Amino acid sequence: MSLPLLKNTGDLKGKRVLLRLDLDVPVLKGAVQNAFRIESARETLTFLREGGARTLIIGHIGRDQKETLRPVFEYLKQSLPVAFAETLEDARKKMAGLSAGEFLLLQNLRSFPGETKNDVAFTKELASLADIFVNEAFAVSHREHASIVGVPALLQSFAGFVFAKEVEYLSKVFTPAHPALLILGGAKFETKIPLIERFLNIADDIYICGALANDIYRARGYETGVSLVSDCKISQALLESPKMHIPSDVIIRADSGNEEKGADNVGKTEKIVDAGSDALADLRALVEKAAFVLWNGPLGLYEEGFDQGTIALAQALVECDAETVIGGGDSIAVVSKLGLLERFSFVSTGGGAMLEFLAKQTLPGIEALRNSASRK
Ligand code: ADP
Ligand code: 3PG
Ligand code: MG
Repeated sequence: MSLPLLKNTGDLKGKRVLLRLDLDVPVLKGAVQNAFRIESARETLTFLREGGARTLIIGHIGRDQKETLRPVFEYLKQSLPVAFAETLEDARKKMAGLSAGEFLLLQNLRSFPGETKNDVAFTKELASLADIFVNEAFAVSHREHASIVGVPALLQSFAGFVFAKEVEYLSKVFTPAHPALLILGGAKFETKIPLIERFLNIADDIYICGALANDIYRARGYETGVSLVSDCKISQALLESPKMHIPSDVIIRADSGNEEKGADNVGKTEKIVDAGSDALADLRALVEKAAFVLWNGPLGLYEEGFDQGTIALAQALVECDAETVIGGGDSIAVVSKLGLLERFSFVSTGGGAMLEFLAKQTLPGIEALRNSASRK
């Protein structure tokens, strides 16, 4: 069933809209460091503003209840008529005074315990603040939280412009052009295993790198020293698949300095921090022969300066002829710093959400919108 779309809401003038955004952006010393996620909602914000809606923006930041959306408010204020509400009570008062085309931003949703618990009373309170609901937070739509699945059960609900684009574009990835290459790096193996299992049938090659590769080295009996590993169980099907590739050499960090060496030659006190040059050459060759590439997750510990592998991959992808899709907060942060984002065929705002959508073909937040439409 297709999604109910924001452009089909009808007259918005004076209507109270509850708008769920993904405001989970990196912040340093009180300032937003990368606004990609906020800016991706710009079309929806402009549509609501020009349509004369009275919009309550809701979103979370981080996973700590104490984190604040104030820096996001300061950022939004530069381009929108927007006020800030710390509490639901405050929001109720300020919504009553809001004029057509104006916005109000509520403090971090996750500072309210009812959000992540999808608590009924909290959901009702949120829903009572608006006439309709718009989800423009694809990146959080794998979470069964009040603002994602609770509210659409109570209010007539719509998908924002980017939400709809994400679903439309990523649905095409289930039947990619061939040869299709999946590159998975970063950490959090548990969130990536379902996708890998599914793409073992769909993709022609799967390149596993970043900290994920450490788990494969370990499963093969290699020493991984003090590298980041998870306790995920890797299936025999993946370990034995001829489609699966991992870096043959790595950069290690040790007390004596950094060094490039074979992945099967890591010492007990060493830490794998990036892919080596042979590995990058192999990866480049795979990219060059691909017609479709999906990439998520950095190749190395880029925050600590080990970003050479990730940068080399980004370069290879923007220079190749394949259709290129990228997703994931950390991956996007690196590529956006290089100014290369717009040279990808598609950039997903989702990290975990993109991976779960590709593995399951739907998300709780998508089903909630569809169910809302079918109740109309
Ligand atoms: P994304 O946000 O793009 O989806 P992830 O969150 O899965 O990516 O993973 C990003 C994290 O993985 C980064 O913090 C990065 O430092 C880390 N990482 C990548 N390679 C390594 C490595 N070899 N050792 C430790 N951490 C790594
Ligand atoms: C993200 O950063 O991918 C989204 O904001 C979801 O955040 P979460 O993984 O903390 O639910
Ligand atoms: Mg990440």
